[in-house]
Amino acid sequence: MMPDAYILGIESSCDETAAAVVRSGQEVLSNVVASQIATHQPYGGVVPELASREHLRAIVPVVRQALAEAKMDYESVDAIAVTQGPGLAGALLVGISFAKALAFALEKPLIAVNHLEGHIHAVLLEQQQVGNADLQFPVLALVVSGGHTHLYLARREQNCWTYQNIGHTRDDAAGEAFDKVAKLLGLGYPGGPIIDGLAPHGNPAAVKFQTSQLKHRDRKRPQLDDRPRFDFSYSGIKTAVLRYVETHNMGPAIAFRRQELLKIEEPKLEDHLRLCDRQTLDLVASFQRSMVEDLVAKTLAAAGEYDVQTLFVSGGVAANQELRATFGRDAEMQGVPVFFPSRSLSTDNAAMIAAAAYPKFLARDFVPMDFSAEAGMALR
Ligand code: KG4
Ligand code: ZN
Repeated sequence: MMPDAYILGIESSCDETAAAVVRSGQEVLSNVVASQIATHQPYGGVVPELASREHLRAIVPVVRQALAEAKMDYESVDAIAVTQGPGLAGALLVGISFAKALAFALEKPLIAVNHLEGHIHAVLLEQQQVGNADLQFPVLALVVSGGHTHLYLARREQNCWTYQNIGHTRDDAAGEAFDKVAKLLGLGYPGGPIIDGLAPHGNPAAVKFQTSQLKHRDRKRPQLDDRPRFDFSYSGIKTAVLRYVETHNMGPAIAFRRQELLKIEEPKLEDHLRLCDRQTLDLVASFQRSMVEDLVAKTLAAAGEYDVQTLFVSGGVAANQELRATFGRDAEMQGVPVFFPSRSLSTDNAAMIAAAAYPKFLARDFVPMDFSAEAGMALR
């Protein structure tokens, strides 16, 4: 029997201030997320300085709320876990400084977690919650969000998890492409959920977009692994959407839509639908179809090449309905079970950080007080 541990997780890598209490990597006692969407909305993307300021404002109440909802207090947690990177340096430092102060004052162990490992453990956490502890390894994890599009082979030996990156985006992340396309169509921010809602109302076969074929061998490290890598590239599709908009003279309708949406405090799907003509809906549906097909095809090709037993799909874009449905259908045809986190654990949260910290807690993998943020932190 593994010892029980109540871990307080803190996450502040981008535009969400989050805290959660998770028992032994398998039971979420609380999961509080303060979103900064309203702050960044007028700029159509995350503004780093504003993000740090908002984290400073939110961190204390968010942590207090997470403890209160878990019916715990500072003394009763066994360890404090915090995101070390990757992310915005100033934003990460807010969570790290607060976690350090807590750990020091309470004399509790401090655990540093890679944000991407957190996204992977979000899937594991929910599988444990439903009693599916019997996952087959190796696992192939697609982490797909606003800042990342990565494929990792994940292995577990007792309490030690190791990761091998076998693909990543060469330019824009998939979520970034959703956000940029939504912005250029005057749809608002963040674009992923808006496009997700609009796409079923358009014809996905209306416009053909090419996505890049980037299967190649790792020329830098051929001696380590002779198998190909599966990289992604999404800046081309964004440019193709822009070109379509220009050649089809969609500019005036986009400008009108942008103005109208600015007048609505929290636009709903009905508002977007009312302001989108057929051509725009078809374009949105076609864009999403191309993104989904590329993500699924490359992930399943990698799964075949590396003979994986289980697929995890996590990160903000994993909330996308068409992505979930397509993965469900195509992975089943290939005979590989695929698991997603629920929507609330797909986007940034701290329960995933507390869950990823549990194996490190068991391995007594604690960090000293002088550890710092690593904005470009790699996962290994
Ligand atoms: O994981 P996350 O919350 O933050 C990062 O680590 O980046 O992901 C946010 C990203 C944004 O780009 C957002 O547009 C995208 O995930 N996203 C979606 C959906 N929900 C969020 N993309 C497509 N469909 C969605 N339903
Ligand atoms: Zn994330």
